[in-house]
Amino acid sequence: MLDKIKALQEEIKSAVVSNLEEVDELRIRYISKKGSINKLFADFKNVPAEQKKEVGKAINDLKDFALDKINSLKESFESNGNSDIGSDLTKPGEPMKLGTRHPLAIVKNEIISIFGRLGFTVAEGPEIEDDWHVFSALNFPPEHPARDMQDTFFIEKDPDVLLRTHTSSVQIRVMERTQPPIRAIFPGRVFRNEAISARSHCIFHQIEGLYVDENVSFADLKQTLLYFAKELFGEDTQIRLRPSYFPFTEPSAEMDVSCSICGGEGCNVCKYTGWLEILGCGMVDPNVLEACSIDSKKYTGFAFGMGIERITMLKYGIKDIRHFFENDVRFLKQFESAT
Ligand code: PHE
Repeated sequence: MLDKIKALQEEIKSAVVSNLEEVDELRIRYISKKGSINKLFADFKNVPAEQKKEVGKAINDLKDFALDKINSLKESFESNGNSDIGSDLTKPGEPMKLGTRHPLAIVKNEIISIFGRLGFTVAEGPEIEDDWHVFSALNFPPEHPARDMQDTFFIEKDPDVLLRTHTSSVQIRVMERTQPPIRAIFPGRVFRNEAISARSHCIFHQIEGLYVDENVSFADLKQTLLYFAKELFGEDTQIRLRPSYFPFTEPSAEMDVSCSICGGEGCNVCKYTGWLEILGCGMVDPNVLEACSIDSKKYTGFAFGMGIERITMLKYGIKDIRHFFENDVRFLKQFESAT
Protein backbone atom coordinates (compact mmCIF):
# COMPACT_ATOMS: atom_id res chain seq x y z
CA MET A 1 0.00 0.00 0.00
CA LEU A 2 2.75 2.43 0.94
CA ASP A 3 4.56 1.65 -2.33
CA LYS A 4 1.40 2.33 -4.24
CA ILE A 5 1.05 5.70 -2.53
CA LYS A 6 4.65 6.58 -3.30
CA ALA A 7 4.22 5.62 -6.96
CA LEU A 8 1.11 7.78 -7.25
CA GLN A 9 2.94 10.70 -5.67
CA GLU A 10 5.76 10.39 -8.22
CA GLU A 11 3.20 10.23 -11.01
CA ILE A 12 1.46 13.40 -9.84
CA LYS A 13 4.77 15.16 -9.28
CA SER A 14 5.93 14.56 -12.83
CA ALA A 15 2.60 15.30 -14.53
CA VAL A 16 2.91 17.99 -17.23
CA VAL A 17 -0.06 20.01 -18.46
CA SER A 18 -0.36 22.82 -20.97
CA ASN A 19 -3.81 24.25 -20.41
CA LEU A 20 -6.74 24.49 -18.02
CA GLU A 21 -8.57 21.51 -19.52
CA GLU A 22 -5.58 19.29 -18.86
CA VAL A 23 -5.45 20.53 -15.27
CA ASP A 24 -9.05 19.47 -14.91
CA GLU A 25 -8.23 16.05 -16.31
CA LEU A 26 -5.59 15.69 -13.59
CA ARG A 27 -8.14 16.63 -10.97
CA ILE A 28 -10.57 14.00 -12.24
CA ARG A 29 -7.89 11.35 -12.47
CA TYR A 30 -6.55 11.85 -8.94
CA ILE A 31 -8.88 13.64 -6.58
CA SER A 32 -12.44 13.31 -7.88
CA LYS A 33 -14.84 10.81 -6.29
CA LYS A 34 -13.74 8.11 -8.69
CA GLY A 35 -10.10 9.23 -8.71
CA SER A 36 -7.14 7.09 -7.65
CA ILE A 37 -6.72 8.74 -4.26
CA ASN A 38 -10.29 8.01 -3.26
CA LYS A 39 -9.71 4.41 -4.28
CA LEU A 40 -6.89 4.31 -1.74
CA PHE A 41 -9.31 5.46 0.92
CA ALA A 42 -11.65 2.64 -0.13
CA ASP A 43 -8.83 0.08 0.21
CA PHE A 44 -7.93 1.51 3.60
CA LYS A 45 -10.26 -0.87 5.40
CA ASN A 46 -8.05 -3.79 4.32
CA VAL A 47 -4.94 -2.27 5.89
CA PRO A 48 -3.86 -4.19 9.01
CA ALA A 49 -4.68 -2.33 12.18
CA GLU A 50 -1.04 -1.73 13.20
CA GLN A 51 -0.30 0.02 9.85
CA LYS A 52 -3.47 2.10 9.77
CA LYS A 53 -1.88 5.17 11.42
CA GLU A 54 1.07 5.31 9.02
CA VAL A 55 -0.91 4.52 5.87
CA GLY A 56 -3.73 6.90 6.80
CA LYS A 57 -1.27 9.76 7.18
CA ALA A 58 0.43 8.89 3.88
CA ILE A 59 -2.89 8.95 1.99
CA ASN A 60 -3.86 12.25 3.55
CA ASP A 61 -0.47 13.75 2.71
CA LEU A 62 -0.79 12.51 -0.86
CA LYS A 63 -4.22 14.11 -1.18
CA ASP A 64 -2.88 17.46 0.14
CA PHE A 65 0.04 17.24 -2.23
CA ALA A 66 -2.22 16.55 -5.22
CA LEU A 67 -4.62 19.37 -4.25
CA ASP A 68 -1.77 21.85 -3.89
CA LYS A 69 -0.28 20.96 -7.22
CA ILE A 70 -3.61 21.09 -9.08
CA ASN A 71 -4.64 24.39 -7.48
CA SER A 72 -1.36 26.08 -8.23
CA LEU A 73 -1.42 24.85 -11.84
CA LYS A 74 -4.96 26.13 -12.16
CA GLU A 75 -4.03 29.53 -10.75
CA SER A 76 -1.08 29.92 -13.05
CA PHE A 77 -3.21 29.30 -16.13
CA GLU A 78 -6.03 31.49 -14.91
CA SER A 79 -3.80 34.43 -14.07
CA ASN A 80 -2.42 34.25 -17.59
CA GLY A 81 -6.01 34.90 -18.64
CA ASN A 82 -5.37 32.56 -21.48
CA SER A 83 -5.54 28.86 -20.99
CA ASP A 84 -2.65 27.92 -23.24
CA ILE A 85 -0.57 31.04 -23.64
CA GLY A 86 2.51 29.04 -22.72
CA SER A 87 2.14 26.85 -25.77
CA ASP A 88 1.33 29.54 -28.36
CA LEU A 89 3.58 32.56 -28.19
CA THR A 90 2.24 33.91 -31.47
CA LYS A 91 -1.17 34.68 -29.95
CA PRO A 92 -2.02 38.40 -29.80
CA GLY A 93 -1.53 40.07 -26.41
CA GLU A 94 -4.24 41.28 -24.08
CA PRO A 95 -5.64 44.57 -25.44
CA MET A 96 -4.46 47.56 -23.41
CA LYS A 97 -7.24 49.77 -22.07
CA LEU A 98 -6.93 53.27 -23.52
CA GLY A 99 -8.47 56.43 -22.14
CA THR A 100 -11.13 58.27 -24.09
CA ARG A 101 -11.26 61.88 -25.14
CA HIS A 102 -13.30 64.17 -22.91
CA PRO A 103 -16.65 65.11 -24.52
CA LEU A 104 -15.76 68.81 -24.27
CA ALA A 105 -12.51 68.16 -26.14
CA ILE A 106 -14.38 66.20 -28.83
CA VAL A 107 -16.81 69.06 -29.44
CA LYS A 108 -14.10 71.73 -29.21
CA ASN A 109 -12.03 69.91 -31.84
CA GLU A 110 -15.08 69.53 -34.06
CA ILE A 111 -15.80 73.27 -33.86
CA ILE A 112 -12.14 74.10 -34.58
CA SER A 113 -12.25 71.83 -37.59
CA ILE A 114 -15.48 73.38 -38.96
CA PHE A 115 -14.07 76.91 -38.75
CA GLY A 116 -10.73 75.66 -40.01
CA ARG A 117 -12.48 74.78 -43.27
CA LEU A 118 -13.55 78.44 -43.52
CA GLY A 119 -9.98 79.62 -43.04
CA PHE A 120 -10.13 80.48 -39.31
CA THR A 121 -6.93 79.85 -37.37
CA VAL A 122 -6.76 79.19 -33.61
CA ALA A 123 -5.28 81.51 -30.98
CA GLU A 124 -5.28 81.48 -27.19
CA GLY A 125 -4.89 84.03 -24.42
CA PRO A 126 -4.30 84.05 -20.65
CA GLU A 127 -6.95 83.01 -18.10
CA ILE A 128 -5.68 85.52 -15.56
CA GLU A 129 -6.39 88.88 -17.14
CA ASP A 130 -6.59 92.59 -16.47
CA ASP A 131 -9.54 94.97 -16.60
CA TRP A 132 -8.48 96.42 -19.96
CA HIS A 133 -8.65 93.15 -21.93
CA VAL A 134 -11.80 91.77 -20.30
CA PHE A 135 -13.83 94.97 -19.97
CA SER A 136 -12.45 98.41 -20.86
CA ALA A 137 -11.14 97.71 -24.36
CA LEU A 138 -14.39 95.84 -25.04
CA ASN A 139 -16.36 99.03 -24.48
CA PHE A 140 -17.82 98.09 -21.10
CA PRO A 141 -18.79 101.32 -19.31
CA PRO A 142 -17.15 101.70 -15.86
CA GLU A 143 -20.38 101.00 -14.01
CA HIS A 144 -21.35 97.90 -16.04
CA PRO A 145 -22.74 95.15 -13.77
CA ALA A 146 -20.49 92.45 -15.30
CA ARG A 147 -17.57 94.18 -13.57
CA ASP A 148 -19.27 93.52 -10.27
CA MET A 149 -17.84 91.08 -7.73
CA GLN A 150 -21.06 89.13 -8.21
CA ASP A 151 -19.94 88.00 -11.64
CA THR A 152 -16.19 88.33 -11.75
CA PHE A 153 -13.51 86.65 -9.65
CA PHE A 154 -10.96 89.27 -8.67
CA ILE A 155 -7.59 88.61 -7.13
CA GLU A 156 -7.53 89.89 -3.59
CA LYS A 157 -6.61 93.57 -3.12
CA ASP A 158 -5.87 94.26 -6.79
CA PRO A 159 -9.00 95.10 -8.82
CA ASP A 160 -6.93 95.08 -11.99
CA VAL A 161 -6.17 91.35 -11.78
CA LEU A 162 -9.09 89.07 -12.51
CA LEU A 163 -10.11 85.75 -14.02
CA ARG A 164 -11.53 86.32 -17.48
CA THR A 165 -15.31 86.02 -17.62
CA HIS A 166 -15.34 85.46 -21.38
CA THR A 167 -12.95 84.66 -24.23
CA SER A 168 -13.68 88.06 -25.84
CA SER A 169 -10.49 89.20 -24.07
CA VAL A 170 -8.52 87.21 -26.66
CA GLN A 171 -10.09 89.35 -29.43
CA ILE A 172 -8.36 92.35 -27.89
CA ARG A 173 -5.02 90.59 -27.48
CA VAL A 174 -5.07 89.44 -31.11
CA MET A 175 -6.18 92.82 -32.52
CA GLU A 176 -3.54 94.62 -30.45
CA ARG A 177 -0.77 92.66 -32.10
CA THR A 178 -2.15 92.04 -35.62
CA GLN A 179 -3.54 94.36 -38.27
CA PRO A 180 -6.42 93.00 -40.45
CA PRO A 181 -7.18 90.74 -42.17
CA ILE A 182 -7.82 88.70 -39.01
CA ARG A 183 -9.80 85.48 -39.10
CA ALA A 184 -9.41 83.34 -35.99
CA ILE A 185 -11.20 81.47 -33.22
CA PHE A 186 -10.21 81.40 -29.56
CA PRO A 187 -11.12 78.40 -27.40
CA GLY A 188 -10.58 78.67 -23.67
CA ARG A 189 -11.68 78.36 -20.09
CA VAL A 190 -13.65 81.14 -18.44
CA PHE A 191 -14.72 81.88 -14.88
CA ARG A 192 -17.82 83.44 -13.37
CA ASN A 193 -18.83 83.78 -9.78
CA GLU A 194 -21.98 81.69 -10.12
CA ALA A 195 -23.61 79.09 -7.93
CA ILE A 196 -22.98 75.57 -9.23
CA SER A 197 -26.15 73.84 -10.40
CA ALA A 198 -27.28 71.42 -13.12
CA ARG A 199 -27.29 74.32 -15.60
CA SER A 200 -24.43 76.56 -14.57
CA HIS A 201 -20.90 76.26 -13.26
CA CYS A 202 -18.29 78.75 -12.09
CA ILE A 203 -15.80 77.32 -14.60
CA PHE A 204 -16.76 76.61 -18.18
CA HIS A 205 -15.41 76.82 -21.73
CA GLN A 206 -16.12 79.15 -24.62
CA ILE A 207 -15.08 79.49 -28.23
CA GLU A 208 -14.88 82.99 -29.58
CA GLY A 209 -14.66 83.90 -33.26
CA LEU A 210 -13.38 87.08 -34.89
CA TYR A 211 -13.24 88.21 -38.50
CA VAL A 212 -11.93 91.69 -39.33
CA ASP A 213 -11.22 92.91 -42.84
CA GLU A 214 -12.40 95.49 -45.37
CA ASN A 215 -16.11 95.18 -46.21
CA VAL A 216 -17.02 92.48 -43.71
CA SER A 217 -20.80 92.65 -43.37
CA PHE A 218 -23.60 91.23 -41.26
CA ALA A 219 -24.44 88.97 -44.22
CA ASP A 220 -20.97 87.39 -43.88
CA LEU A 221 -21.65 86.78 -40.20
CA LYS A 222 -24.99 85.18 -40.93
CA GLN A 223 -23.64 82.92 -43.67
CA THR A 224 -20.67 81.83 -41.55
CA LEU A 225 -22.93 80.91 -38.65
CA LEU A 226 -25.41 79.09 -40.88
CA TYR A 227 -22.60 76.97 -42.31
CA PHE A 228 -21.32 76.28 -38.80
CA ALA A 229 -24.76 75.24 -37.47
CA LYS A 230 -25.40 72.87 -40.38
CA GLU A 231 -21.97 71.27 -40.04
CA LEU A 232 -22.34 70.78 -36.29
CA PHE A 233 -26.01 69.82 -35.93
CA GLY A 234 -26.86 68.48 -39.39
CA GLU A 235 -27.78 69.68 -42.88
CA ASP A 236 -31.45 70.33 -41.99
CA THR A 237 -30.58 72.76 -39.19
CA GLN A 238 -32.01 76.25 -39.44
CA ILE A 239 -30.85 79.37 -37.61
CA ARG A 240 -32.62 82.40 -36.24
CA LEU A 241 -31.01 85.67 -35.11
CA ARG A 242 -32.68 87.70 -32.38
CA PRO A 243 -31.60 91.28 -31.59
CA SER A 244 -29.57 91.48 -28.39
CA TYR A 245 -27.01 93.68 -26.66
CA PHE A 246 -23.29 93.32 -25.93
CA PRO A 247 -21.09 96.36 -25.21
CA PHE A 248 -18.50 95.23 -27.77
CA THR A 249 -20.76 94.55 -30.77
CA GLU A 250 -23.24 96.77 -32.61
CA PRO A 251 -25.65 95.56 -33.82
CA SER A 252 -25.71 92.46 -31.58
CA ALA A 253 -27.71 89.28 -31.83
CA GLU A 254 -28.30 85.95 -30.20
CA MET A 255 -28.46 82.93 -32.43
CA ASP A 256 -30.87 80.03 -32.03
CA VAL A 257 -30.69 76.76 -33.95
CA SER A 258 -33.72 74.65 -34.73
CA CYS A 259 -33.96 71.99 -32.01
CA SER A 260 -31.87 69.01 -33.09
CA ILE A 261 -33.77 66.73 -30.70
CA CYS A 262 -37.34 67.24 -31.94
CA GLY A 263 -36.48 68.79 -35.31
CA GLY A 264 -38.41 71.96 -34.41
CA GLU A 265 -41.64 70.21 -33.43
CA GLY A 266 -41.28 71.17 -29.76
CA CYS A 267 -39.96 69.05 -26.87
CA ASN A 268 -38.88 69.54 -23.27
CA VAL A 269 -35.25 70.32 -24.26
CA CYS A 270 -36.31 73.34 -26.37
CA LYS A 271 -39.14 74.06 -23.92
CA TYR A 272 -41.64 73.52 -26.74
CA THR A 273 -40.32 76.49 -28.73
CA GLY A 274 -38.54 74.44 -31.40
CA TRP A 275 -35.42 76.63 -30.95
CA LEU A 276 -32.23 76.41 -28.88
CA GLU A 277 -30.10 79.43 -28.06
CA ILE A 278 -26.43 78.65 -28.69
CA LEU A 279 -24.40 81.83 -29.13
CA GLY A 280 -24.02 85.60 -28.99
CA CYS A 281 -22.68 87.57 -31.93
CA GLY A 282 -22.58 90.91 -33.70
CA MET A 283 -20.54 93.42 -35.68
CA VAL A 284 -17.43 94.55 -33.79
CA ASP A 285 -18.15 97.97 -32.27
CA PRO A 286 -15.92 100.67 -33.87
CA ASN A 287 -14.83 101.69 -30.34
CA VAL A 288 -13.30 98.24 -29.88
CA LEU A 289 -11.37 98.43 -33.16
CA GLU A 290 -10.07 101.89 -32.23
CA ALA A 291 -9.04 100.68 -28.74
CA CYS A 292 -6.76 98.22 -30.56
CA SER A 293 -5.44 100.84 -33.03
CA ILE A 294 -7.36 99.42 -35.97
CA ASP A 295 -8.82 102.01 -38.35
CA SER A 296 -12.60 101.65 -37.96
CA LYS A 297 -13.20 103.73 -41.13
CA LYS A 298 -11.33 101.21 -43.20
CA TYR A 299 -12.15 97.96 -41.47
CA THR A 300 -15.26 96.24 -40.15
CA GLY A 301 -15.61 92.89 -38.47
CA PHE A 302 -17.88 90.40 -36.82
CA ALA A 303 -17.48 88.39 -33.62
CA PHE A 304 -19.32 85.56 -31.94
CA GLY A 305 -18.95 83.56 -28.75
CA MET A 306 -20.44 80.30 -27.56
CA GLY A 307 -20.31 78.01 -24.53
CA ILE A 308 -18.83 74.59 -25.28
CA GLU A 309 -20.61 72.90 -22.36
CA ARG A 310 -24.02 74.06 -23.56
CA ILE A 311 -23.40 72.89 -27.13
CA THR A 312 -22.06 69.53 -25.92
CA MET A 313 -25.11 69.08 -23.66
CA LEU A 314 -27.44 69.78 -26.58
CA LYS A 315 -25.54 67.56 -28.96
CA TYR A 316 -25.42 64.54 -26.66
CA GLY A 317 -28.54 65.12 -24.56
CA ILE A 318 -26.54 65.60 -21.32
CA LYS A 319 -28.80 66.93 -18.56
CA ASP A 320 -26.33 68.12 -15.93
CA ILE A 321 -23.28 70.37 -16.53
CA ARG A 322 -21.54 68.99 -13.41
CA HIS A 323 -20.87 65.69 -15.21
CA PHE A 324 -18.14 67.42 -17.24
CA PHE A 325 -16.08 68.21 -14.17
CA GLU A 326 -16.60 65.12 -12.04
CA ASN A 327 -14.60 62.92 -14.42
CA ASP A 328 -16.48 59.74 -13.59
CA VAL A 329 -15.16 57.19 -16.08
CA ARG A 330 -18.64 55.68 -16.47
CA PHE A 331 -19.74 59.04 -17.91
CA LEU A 332 -16.58 59.70 -19.94
CA LYS A 333 -16.50 56.20 -21.47
CA GLN A 334 -19.77 56.81 -23.28
CA PHE A 335 -18.10 59.12 -25.76
CA GLU A 336 -15.51 56.57 -26.86
CA SER A 337 -17.17 55.93 -30.21
CA ALA A 338 -17.33 59.65 -30.94
CA THR A 339 -13.53 60.01 -30.98
N1 PHE B 1 -18.64 87.29 -24.78
C1 PHE B 1 -20.04 87.03 -24.90
C2 PHE B 1 -20.49 86.19 -23.71
O1 PHE B 1 -19.68 85.71 -22.97
C3 PHE B 1 -20.40 86.30 -26.17
C4 PHE B 1 -20.13 87.13 -27.42
C5 PHE B 1 -18.90 87.02 -28.07
C6 PHE B 1 -21.08 87.98 -27.93
C7 PHE B 1 -18.66 87.78 -29.21
C8 PHE B 1 -20.85 88.70 -29.09
C9 PHE B 1 -19.65 88.59 -29.72
O2 PHE B 1 -21.66 86.00 -23.49
